[in-house]
Amino acid sequence: MPVSHGDGSVNVVMLGPPGAGKGTQAERLARRRQLPKISTGDILRDAVTAGTELGRIAKATMDAGNLLSDDVMIGIVGERLNRPDATGGFVLDGFPRTVGQATALDHMVDGRGPLVVLDIVVPEEVLVRRLATRRICGQCGVNASVEWTGACQKCGGELIARIDDGVEIVRERLKIYRRQTEPLVDYYSVRPTFRSIDGNQPPDIVTRQVDDALLDACRRSAAL
Ligand code: AP5
Repeated sequence: MPVSHGDGSVNVVMLGPPGAGKGTQAERLARRRQLPKISTGDILRDAVTAGTELGRIAKATMDAGNLLSDDVMIGIVGERLNRPDATGGFVLDGFPRTVGQATALDHMVDGRGPLVVLDIVVPEEVLVRRLATRRICGQCGVNASVEWTGACQKCGGELIARIDDGVEIVRERLKIYRRQTEPLVDYYSVRPTFRSIDGNQPPDIVTRQVDDALLDACRRSAAL
């Protein structure tokens, strides 16, 4: 069952650098809490695959490891959060990534209950290693599990490297993270619903700590 704040909504932001495990943990959390997982990276990659106007704009920017403009991203997320399935809560993965996006998100969720912000912390050398070895399904886009050999076990698609996981592009993504996204730790850490999680542990242990942090943050915010 969903854990809820006083007003019934559970609004979660997964924060962290590229490769920290935001997507992995957002997926698990959303499934357990029956909430929509909203991944801006997935939305953009779907648009690229579908060949839409957004996809055309996004492809070169993503392949180079740069960020799309705040205006575009705020528009996408604003529209998504207004859909009926997100009114009772959501798990955001990959948004916000700049202070401008965070300020816009505060406006979007005004009156919907507090944001729980879970910051997944992983040392840089581990991030580089993880992304260098990551494989995704070229068809459905899911991250390949380490046990998968040959093909995607969900849809049978071919396993490939993400273009933006090349070593040089990962270095660029990490530079952009430090410059544009890391300031969000200061932005959010003054709030009682901010929690830091050690992401350099086996995924199941991180999952348990995500659960504990969410419960703790919800209790704290309900008590205020
Ligand atoms: P996005 O897809 O969001 O990329 P990212 O933030 O760089 O995150 P990743 O997907 O690389 O990593 P993750 O933290 O989700 O880790 P994951 O669980 O996959 O964005 C891509 C691009 O889109 C951006 O560069 C930008 O161009 C654009 N974009 C998106 N949002 C935007 C926005 N708001 N504004 C502007 N532009 C935007 O795990 C990584 C790997 O590690 C996997 O192989 C996984 O199996 C493994 N792993 C996970 N957890 C563990 C663990 N605990 N131990 C060992 N391995 C683990």
